Amino acid sequence: MSSLIIEGGNKLNGEVVVSGSKNAALPILATAILNPNKVTFYNVPDIEDVRTTLLILKSLGCQIDRKCDKIAICSEKMRKTEIPNELMKKARSTVILAGALIGRYNKATFYIPGGCNIGKRPIDIHLEAFKELGIDVNYDKNKIECNAKKIHSNKIYLKIPSVGATENIILASIFVNGTTYIHNAAMEPEIKDLATCLNKMGAKIYGAGTNKIVIVGVKKLYSTSYRIMPDRIEAGTYLAAAAITKGKIKLVNVNVLDMMEVLYKFKQIGCKISFNNNEIKLEAGRKLKNTNIITNPYPGFPTDLQSIISAVLTKSEGRSIIIETIFENRFEYCKELKKMGAKIELLDKNKIKITGNSDLIGTEVESTDLRGDASIIVAALAAKGKTKISGTKNLERGYENIDQKLNNIGAKVKFVNNY
Ligand code: UD1
Repeated sequence: MSSLIIEGGNKLNGEVVVSGSKNAALPILATAILNPNKVTFYNVPDIEDVRTTLLILKSLGCQIDRKCDKIAICSEKMRKTEIPNELMKKARSTVILAGALIGRYNKATFYIPGGCNIGKRPIDIHLEAFKELGIDVNYDKNKIECNAKKIHSNKIYLKIPSVGATENIILASIFVNGTTYIHNAAMEPEIKDLATCLNKMGAKIYGAGTNKIVIVGVKKLYSTSYRIMPDRIEAGTYLAAAAITKGKIKLVNVNVLDMMEVLYKFKQIGCKISFNNNEIKLEAGRKLKNTNIITNPYPGFPTDLQSIISAVLTKSEGRSIIIETIFENRFEYCKELKKMGAKIELLDKNKIKITGNSDLIGTEVESTDLRGDASIIVAALAAKGKTKISGTKNLERGYENIDQKLNNIGAKVKFVNNY
């Protein structure tokens, strides 16, 4: 098992190039299953979740050629339709591959996906939507088999605007003879990116980025290349790192319009923000102020940055209230921040109170989940002394070269192997 050691107390100052989006890359890689022609993707982050997805694509029979952030995939010779259980367990997003398999072959065998332990995370909405498209769904313990003679179009209403379910419906209905409607669809920018990519291949998807998506079935997709959008959660993580250390940062390769709510919060806590289309500059104020945050589906404040901005609020003045509305179990990281001296009180199962001006002291903490670990890093950058996070698997799933990127702007962070 490896650990991450962070020596706190250094002001961060400099430029960070933001990587391609994890949450956009995963469904976009799945489009290669639908498209038997060669497809080339750029700006693909080098993270464990991408590596897992590529292993699955390879196990299904795809040919893959990877050079740095460019990945070319050809699924012409692919014939398998079962996703191996041991790979399925490694990430939540593996479930998206099911929609793509169904879209191409009218069938898929897969297993209950893994991913961060941040709540129950059922896949009932995905499976109900498949049924509404005329697909038979059969379960045997954690194995799920989907089969359809013919997928038919339908009007699907999602009881929750699930990001993954919206993506699965889009992928499954690309070749349907007819028009599929998704009402109460998730509006996240990553869904718009998936639709833009598919449309570039020849699909006809309208309304992605709004809560009503229309998919007009097409007969085939064409060879294409596509550049994946920047990672807005990674971008928010570096803004938090600069804010808590009273630093100054310039982010390059960002979509500013996707981050308005997040930038507003950083402004509210006393950071000076300026931006143009694909760059953001943040300069922390001399004193950070408190704020209240409620997570919400896009365009609300993203749940994935809840833990990360909470770390910053442990050093702000006054009290902040944070309410998590998306996942039931997203405060595990608080126990670890408290070991470092943060004053955090669980008011309810989805509500915490942070009392600011904490004297954070570096100590040994445990990995909790991907964004929980990012929160600990942010806190550790402003703590006195060394923090050691045991277990870095979660971080490796979602952050490309986080040690190098932080060290380039003045942090002291290193991965160490415990064996
Ligand atoms: C995606 C993101 C994740 C982000 C989340 C919310 C990826 C790879 N992951 O996850 O980083 O935190 O969106 O923005 O893109 N739900 C059900 N039944 C279902 C599906 C979801 O009850 O069948 C619930 C979930 O438990 C959760 C809520 O709906 O409470 C939202 O989940 P969803 O939008 O599906 O998140 P993911 O797609 O898993």
